[in-house]
Amino acid sequence: MTKVVTIAQQKGGAGKTTLAIHLAVAWSQRGKRVAVIDIDPQGSLTHWHAIREERFGQGYTGINFSNLSGWRVGSEISRLKRTHDIIVIDSPPHTETEARTAIRHADLIVLPVQPSPTDLWATKATVDLANGEKIPYRIVLNRVSPHSKIVESISKQLENIAESPLGNRVAFAASLLEGRAVTETQPKSPAAREIKLLAEELLEVFADPEEEAAEAREREMEPA
Ligand SMILES: Nc1ncnc2c1ncn2[C@@H]1O[C@H](COP(=O)(O)OP(=O)(O)OP(=O)(O)O)[C@@H](O)[C@H]1O
Ligand SMILES: [Mg+2]
Repeated sequence: MTKVVTIAQQKGGAGKTTLAIHLAVAWSQRGKRVAVIDIDPQGSLTHWHAIREERFGQGYTGINFSNLSGWRVGSEISRLKRTHDIIVIDSPPHTETEARTAIRHADLIVLPVQPSPTDLWATKATVDLANGEKIPYRIVLNRVSPHSKIVESISKQLENIAESPLGNRVAFAASLLEGRAVTETQPKSPAAREIKLLAEELLEVFADPEEEAAEAREREMEPA
């Protein structure tokens, strides 16, 4: 079953696009068929994908890309579902109507939050939307410095925080300039390690024991 992951956060600059790209590439590198939809009129992800196409060639970026306005997202999801395992949606700042539509279609909402009071306060609007729609969400602490007191106190005020935070690392931004992700430019870096851990952790949300058991049975039946 295809899963729709919407990256949302009312606050601008929290790391939505950076996270959308890095999760999409990490999942695609581990064999998932990934589609990305950019519904942000700023089109940051669209820029990234254009550079990626220049580098790898049209149709060879490893990720299906589309750019459309939020109200059309439902029909695009139906179209993409047939041929993809995961659909990642990058949404604009503010809980606008368009972002709301993307949130409603999600199987999981991922919310980047930087360790600052303004990020924390802005988070509530998105969390309320997720809870109102009964959609699971995970908060990703982003640009975190190790052992900082503020991270500790912010964490106490939030639920559903992912176990794997992302550090404040230039490599995330630098890789995007090349139309790539850090798991491609610096696969052994701490940044790559962090995003891979997070990508795995988020997949666990969808883990279906019955489906896994069926796959294991299938593998057993395959000739060695
Ligand atoms: N973990 C990180 N380490 C270092 N820089 C980061 C990290 N995450 C994001 N950034 C930087 O923070 C800035 C904002 O990130 P990004 O554009 O992903 O946020 P956004 O939430 O998509 O913004 P907007 O709301 O405008 O769409 C960018 O310059 C990006 O490179
Ligand atoms: Mg963005």
